[in-house]
Amino acid sequence: MDNHLDKLTNMRQKALEGGGLDRIKKHHEKGRYTARERIEMLLDEGSFEEFDMFKTHRCTHFGMEKKEFLGDGVVTGYGTINGRLVYVFSQDFTVFGGSLSETFAEKICKVMDMAMKNGAPVIGLNDSGGARIQEGIESLSGYTDIFLRNVMASGVVPQLSGIFGPCAGGAVYSPALTDFTIMVKENSYMFLTGPKVVKTVTHEDVDVETLGGASVHTVKSGVAHLASDSEEEAIESLKRLFSYLPSNNMEPAPFEATEDPSERTEPYLDEIIPDNSNMPYEMKDVILNTVDDGKFLEIQPAYAPNIIIGFARYGGMSVGIVANQPKHLAGVLDNDSSIKGARFVRFCDAFNLPIVTLVDVPGFLPGTVQEYGGIIRNGAKMLYAYAEATVPKVTIVTRKAYGGAYCVMSSKHLRGDINYSWPTGEIAVMGASGAAEILYARDLKKAEGEDKKKVREEKEAEYNESFANPYVAAKRGYIDDVITPSNTRFRIVKALGMLQHKQDTNPRKKHGNIPL
Ligand code: HXC
Repeated sequence: MDNHLDKLTNMRQKALEGGGLDRIKKHHEKGRYTARERIEMLLDEGSFEEFDMFKTHRCTHFGMEKKEFLGDGVVTGYGTINGRLVYVFSQDFTVFGGSLSETFAEKICKVMDMAMKNGAPVIGLNDSGGARIQEGIESLSGYTDIFLRNVMASGVVPQLSGIFGPCAGGAVYSPALTDFTIMVKENSYMFLTGPKVVKTVTHEDVDVETLGGASVHTVKSGVAHLASDSEEEAIESLKRLFSYLPSNNMEPAPFEATEDPSERTEPYLDEIIPDNSNMPYEMKDVILNTVDDGKFLEIQPAYAPNIIIGFARYGGMSVGIVANQPKHLAGVLDNDSSIKGARFVRFCDAFNLPIVTLVDVPGFLPGTVQEYGGIIRNGAKMLYAYAEATVPKVTIVTRKAYGGAYCVMSSKHLRGDINYSWPTGEIAVMGASGAAEILYARDLKKAEGEDKKKVREEKEAEYNESFANPYVAAKRGYIDDVITPSNTRFRIVKALGMLQHKQDTNPRKKHGNIPL
């Protein structure tokens, strides 16, 4: 018996050493944690149960039969985060650069299948050079098996990805199919292929950061959702994100009791809208002053900052928040912000998270840059996402809700459940200056100099008086009430409470055809 136990102990030890102690040392010297250390940081202490520790690859090309590592470069299993079940896989860069073999893929597929059967999220910690080149089609088929599972799991269990090293090929396409991707600044990269291959294909000289660092994907491309200063911070972000999400699409959004009184008023909000309606203000102040304990997890803060998205709680209820940001491009909807907002709305709807929408939007951004970029198609994504969402939708117009952007931002007409406006609401087809230019073109043409200025001011004032207020919409019932800004938290908490058991459906269909 002793021999058997010794053998098991030795095998376990060998598996724990991944690609070997030398490679682990080098990995640590780059300021990186190992695959196992990352899992340890992520999960509740002692909760990890590992699968397939002794699994090895079956490749015999390029002398691979002589290079074998127990576990084959990925650590898989399950555990808990704050007592809640999650499935994890963590790629080990010390084994063939974390590259994916047929057996490596089988290990990941096994935990994904279990996650689906048991209704729990999958968290992938990625650190991989993509498909293992020595395996050829076996590794490609392995990746495709994972992609298929990513798609089948989409909208069923949350899928979260951490990027902890240079990730290429399948190691970025699989995260791209998941719900949220978190990168580590200056130590993690995402690209189709690394700089060496780029050089051979396009002759472009580029370094890893410029090609696919966190600064690229959380600011320019929008591929990743959060950038962290360290691996520890990235793991904390994954945990924090998970705390707002249900474990699957059949569960309600998680509830976390709060001491923060729902009737708390914020007199500051009565003063936040500047007298001049073209002046910006910080929409995040509205969010932070109304959510439970001032806690807000913003997603994609640096990408398309003219729209704010993120998670918070109202009266303990987990919600998704979508808000225009007047401080950036006046909160206008453009291509990037429409795509960012629409994807988030669909995530919330898939996972039973009520959506709170804060509206201050001058419209869609016109012009050639936007038109060539497909603003018609991309703006339609927002319309589509809000229209199909059946979760509770609570909307507050704080100031501008003009034109198509009024329709889009969770309006009554798109099945908004509760639509409130502050008294500063301006709900109309367009702003006063644009409207005066079109409606009174002849009067303006006739007038000259000072007179022209006076006519314009008069016509704009007339328009503002008649249209730039919330009461025209309120008279029609498109706005349920005009509320005191300082009382916004209370009104949102009450509305969400009332909508807690909301049931709504869409017509039966295989799936819709969102304008992708
Ligand atoms: C096999 C690989 C590998 C791979 C890295 N390694 N990538 N082995 N298959 N895909 C090995 C290296 O040979 C090396 O082994 C070790 O991992 C570390 O790699 P380095 O290059 O020394 O590390 P670094 O300089 O940090 O560069 C990391 C890297 C680079 C940027 C990821 O290795 C790279 O560009 N790899 C190729 C990436 C790629 O093109 N993947 C796409 C595959 S196609 P030794 O023994 O020397 O230490 C794909 C298709 C999927 O994934 C389908 C998509 C739809």
